[in-house]
Amino acid sequence: MQTQSINQHYTEDHQHLDDLFHEFQNLKSTDRRSAEKVFSEFKAGLERHIVWEEEILFPAFETKLGHLQEGPTAVMRLEHREIRKYLDSIARKLADENFETDEEEMGLETVLCPHNHKEEGILYPMMDQMFSEPERTAMFSEMNKSK
Ligand SMILES: [Fe+2]
Ligand SMILES: [Fe+2]
Repeated sequence: MQTQSINQHYTEDHQHLDDLFHEFQNLKSTDRRSAEKVFSEFKAGLERHIVWEEEILFPAFETKLGHLQEGPTAVMRLEHREIRKYLDSIARKLADENFETDEEEMGLETVLCPHNHKEEGILYPMMDQMFSEPERTAMFSEMNKSK
């Protein structure tokens, strides 16, 4: 079996998560229960994606680069913090039955869209080049363990 590409796997996950987010936005005005369910799924999925990046992909990348403090992953980690902040504030409002979350959703998209583009355009392709097949296989089995 051919080793999966990091870029392909993670780009597909970005797309799946984007779809969930748009589904939540569409359901918000018509079916609040379903909107809440879809948001929880989106939030859990995005948090898991971030954990995989921060605990599996980025450390391996940083080790290869020799722990460059100002490397691209430092910026990605900062953006993850922003993303989590927006996820939490939307979740808090929904828990209070407050669906006025347009502002937070816009904030989230403003960080998340360019973040995903940078990963897909620069970081993941670099990783696919940098890691050998056995290294990538090991990473994918790590991810599968924490599914
Ligand atoms: Fe990320
Ligand atoms: Fe990502």
